[in-house]
Amino acid sequence: MNVVYEVCCGRFTRPQFFLLLIIILDHGLDSVEGVWPLPQTLTSFTERYPLKPQAFYFDYRRQSAAQHGCSILDAAFKRYFSLTFPDYISAANGVLQITEDRPFIVKISVDRNDCENYPREDSSEKYNLSVSAEKAYLSAETVWGALRGLETFSQLVYQDDFGSYFVNKTEIEDFPRFQFRGILLDTSRHYLPVQTILKTLDAMAYSKFNVFHWHIVDDPSFPYQSCTFPDLSSKGAFHPMTHIYTHSDVRSVISYARLRGIRVLPEFDSPGHTKSWGKGQSNLLTPCYRRGIPSGTFGPVNPALPSTYQFMERLFKEVSSVFPDSYIHLGGDEVDFSCWRSNPYVQAFMQRMGFGADFTKLEAFYIEKIVNMTSLLNKTSIVWQDIFDYSERHRPLSVVEVWKQGCYLCEVRRVVKAGLRVILASPWYLDQPGPTHNWARYYTVWPLAFKGTEEQKKLVIGGEVCMWGEYVDATNLTPRLWPRANAAAERLWSDERQTSSVDKAFPRLQDFRCKLLRRGIQAEPLYVGHCKHEYQGV
Ligand SMILES: *[C@@H]1O[C@H](CO)[C@@H](O)[C@H](O)[C@H]1NC(C)=O
Repeated sequence: MNVVYEVCCGRFTRPQFFLLLIIILDHGLDSVEGVWPLPQTLTSFTERYPLKPQAFYFDYRRQSAAQHGCSILDAAFKRYFSLTFPDYISAANGVLQITEDRPFIVKISVDRNDCENYPREDSSEKYNLSVSAEKAYLSAETVWGALRGLETFSQLVYQDDFGSYFVNKTEIEDFPRFQFRGILLDTSRHYLPVQTILKTLDAMAYSKFNVFHWHIVDDPSFPYQSCTFPDLSSKGAFHPMTHIYTHSDVRSVISYARLRGIRVLPEFDSPGHTKSWGKGQSNLLTPCYRRGIPSGTFGPVNPALPSTYQFMERLFKEVSSVFPDSYIHLGGDEVDFSCWRSNPYVQAFMQRMGFGADFTKLEAFYIEKIVNMTSLLNKTSIVWQDIFDYSERHRPLSVVEVWKQGCYLCEVRRVVKAGLRVILASPWYLDQPGPTHNWARYYTVWPLAFKGTEEQKKLVIGGEVCMWGEYVDATNLTPRLWPRANAAAERLWSDERQTSSVDKAFPRLQDFRCKLLRRGIQAEPLYVGHCKHEYQGV
C-alpha cells in the first residue's frame, strides 16, 4: 500500500512525511534559549516539564513567622510572572485559578531580611537555582540575589511552536564576577524623559546590570532641579518646566531602580563641564581674560574663591540626601586650563598656593576639597582618571574611573598599584554609531589581563558602559544601547574562561535579543536573521 500524506502544499511518501514531522517537532523543541549573561555554573538536562501560567506561582518562604512580607519580592513576582509567560493574559487578572493541573511552585528563600534596604556596593547577588519536577528552589543570601535568580528563571522558560511553556531540569550556582556593572546615561546633552530612563532600568535588569550612573548635568544643560539653588535648572535647563528632573522624578527613578536591585549613582561633574551651572549661579565660573580684560566668556569653576566651596558644600549636602547611594561621582575630566591661565586672580592664587604654573596642581587642590567635603557626608567618591593622572599624592581618592582610549589596561595597572579601586569604561563607549561598533568588540575585553597581584586585581571592582548624549536622545537610545551593552554585561558577570568565544556566544546573544524584543525593548539586530516574534513597529 502506498500511503501519501498531504501536508500543506505538498505530497509526501511515508518516510518523507516522518522526516518532515521530525524536522517540525525538532524545530519546536530547539528553542531552549540560553541564559544571558551566562551563569557561573549551569547544568541542564533534557528532562523537560510543562508549565501552565494558570497553575504556577512564586512562594516566598519567610525565615520566621515574625518576618513580614517583602515588597521588593512581591513586586518582582508580578513582573517575572509576565516576563515568564509573555503572551498570557489572565482572565482572573493574576489571581490563581482553580485548575485540574498540579501547580508548579518556585520556592524562594533569602537568608537576610534586607527587604527594606537599598542595594549596597558589597551586597551579595549570589543565588542557587534548582529546577525539577513541579518545583524550583531559588535560594539567595539577599533579596538582590533572589532578583538575579528570578531573572535567570524567566530566561529558562521557553515556548514550543504551539505556544506551550516548558522548563528543563536545571541546576545553577551563580554570582557576579565584578560587583560594579554600570550603565551611564547622559541627560545634559539631550534631555531623556523619565519614562525612557525607567525603560532602560528594565532592560538593565534583564542582563543583571546593577548601577545606573546618572551623568545628570554637564555643559549644555542643568536639568536637576535643586531645592537649595532653584536657579540652576530654571536658568540652566533647556526648558525650566519641561526639561527638568524634580525631586519627585529623581525619587521615582531611585525607587524603580531599587526594586530591580540597581543603585543610582549621581554625577555632578566639576570643575570642567559646568557651563550650564554658570547660568543660574553667578561668580561660580572663572571669567576668562583677553589682553588683560575680561573677554565675556567663562571657563571652569573658579577654584580661587571661597564662595565656590560654600556653594559646592550646600549643593553636595542636598545631593547627598536626595541620592541614598554610598557613592557619588565627582567628575573631574577634561578641564581646559587656558581660562584659568588667563585670569589674573587665579594666577595670583596659584602664586600664593605655591603651585607655580602647574594648573594640574590647582585642579588636584580643587578636587581634594570636594572629595573631603563629600566624605564628610559619608560618601565614597569616584573621579574620572584625569584627577588620578594629575595628583602626585592620591591620598583622598578612592575610586578612579578609567575612560581614555589607548592602553587602558596600563592605566588600570597604575591605579591599582597606587592601591585605589578601578571602574573600567574605556572599552565600552557605546555612543558612537556605525558598523565598526560591532558587539564582539565589546565582548572581547579582558579587564584583568594586566600584570599584577591577586590583591591588585581585586581592586578592579567592575566596569561601565557609557552612552554619551551628543547624538543620543529618546529616539535612538534603546537600539544604540541594546544588544551591544549586553556584551559588556556578560563580560562583567560571567566567568571569562567560559565566555571567551565570540562564535559560541553569538547564537545565544541573538536569542537574547529576540527575548528583549518580546519584552518591548527595541534592541537592534546583530546580523542577518529572524525572531519568532518580530518587532511590530508600534
Ligand atoms: C531541554 O529538553 C528538550 C526536550 O527534552 C531537549 O531537546 C533540549 O535539548 C533540552 N535543552 C537543554 C538546554 O538541555
